[in-house]
Amino acid sequence: MTVISQLQAHRIWDSRGRPTIEVEVTTEDGFKGRGIAPAGASRGTREAVESRDGGHRFGGLDVQNALRGIREEIFPALKGKPVAHQAAIDATLIELDGTANKQRLGGNALIATSLAVLHAAAAQARQPLWHYLANGQVSSLPLPQIQIFGGGAHAGRRVDVQDFMVVALAAKSFAEALEMTAEVYRAAGQLMAARGGLTGVADEGGWWPNFAKNEDALDVLVASIEAAGLVPGHDMGIALDVAASEFGHGGRYRLALDDTELDSDGLCEKLLDWIERYPIVSIEDPLAEDDEAGLIAFTKAVAGRVQVVGDDYLVTNARLVHAAAKVGACNAVLIKPNQAGTVTETREALDAARKAGYATIVSARSGETEDVSIVHLATGWNAGQLKVGSFARSERMAKWNEGIRIETASIRPGAFIGGAALGRMI
Ligand code: PGA
Ligand code: ZN
Repeated sequence: MTVISQLQAHRIWDSRGRPTIEVEVTTEDGFKGRGIAPAGASRGTREAVESRDGGHRFGGLDVQNALRGIREEIFPALKGKPVAHQAAIDATLIELDGTANKQRLGGNALIATSLAVLHAAAAQARQPLWHYLANGQVSSLPLPQIQIFGGGAHAGRRVDVQDFMVVALAAKSFAEALEMTAEVYRAAGQLMAARGGLTGVADEGGWWPNFAKNEDALDVLVASIEAAGLVPGHDMGIALDVAASEFGHGGRYRLALDDTELDSDGLCEKLLDWIERYPIVSIEDPLAEDDEAGLIAFTKAVAGRVQVVGDDYLVTNARLVHAAAKVGACNAVLIKPNQAGTVTETREALDAARKAGYATIVSARSGETEDVSIVHLATGWNAGQLKVGSFARSERMAKWNEGIRIETASIRPGAFIGGAALGRMI
């Protein structure tokens, strides 16, 4: 069995111009795999912690300590280990770090290494990564959630809600979902220009949210879907990431743009009102990660109508997913590999979600690179849905384009289940 012979780590730069980690693994027979750590800006408190150097250089975000850890501790521990033994390699990484939240070596160091090993194993098996991960199981391209307006922490908190997204419910293929979204994204830009509000894009490429109220974004989104010649709620649904942990703690929520403060019930009511009036099919983090009672109540209130996605609340953690399922909070899980810190733990969170009957959405972070691994994870693991950000900027488009490549080259026609990925939830 092929073993790891070389492991190199260096600093590269992410889509916000910040330092990040790239790891390249080489096997003894010359196969290579590369892993890159993405970075979040609206993070859950329980996710794997990044190693950042602190100090003045690059705003304290340099990763030299993490790189040293990879070279001096991780490489010696992994050298000679079979590259295909992902679970054993990830267990070694977890043990080596030795902390509950991966703060010693850094979740960024661990996920870059874990992904690099995975890519090397697929290369050594001479298979595309999605195919290697599918391991003979049926797989299909995921239904995309694509951002049209970016807000919250990704747009200087210009609006409170973080992501205003569309979901191409009527698309018959991944490529068609992108075609439909391209028209909506373009129409939204034109509508913003007509309103005098076109002033660039947010961190994930969505139009900058020049709105007087959070709800205005929903109005323009519906108008954009119509302007694209599509029927809201039939062809194209709306997905929101409220990212409520960013503006709420202890059951109090401050919507700065709407100049209101709400309790948990109040925010629930506001969202339920939006669900009545707009074609919303999915809401992520409707309440803050510390408001489990609110999440349970909201999930119950929208059962059978709307997908309720846990991101900050569940942080790609199998144990937390299991606990949430027991109490009935959320009915879908966002799956972000760097929240977990290793490929194996990411897969465990996905399995826990599946076991609980929750839908799964593999997701990028707001700080990304040209890395397209998540598209392969979403496809190979048959996750059902994929969230990558908007329909602009190459760190996003690289991923959508990779989906087209996989669909064109590899997947049998008709394998795309589209809106049915939401079927169990809505
Ligand atoms: P982040 O946000 O990558 O900035 O943490 C993405 C999300 O909340 O889904
Ligand atoms: Zn989120």
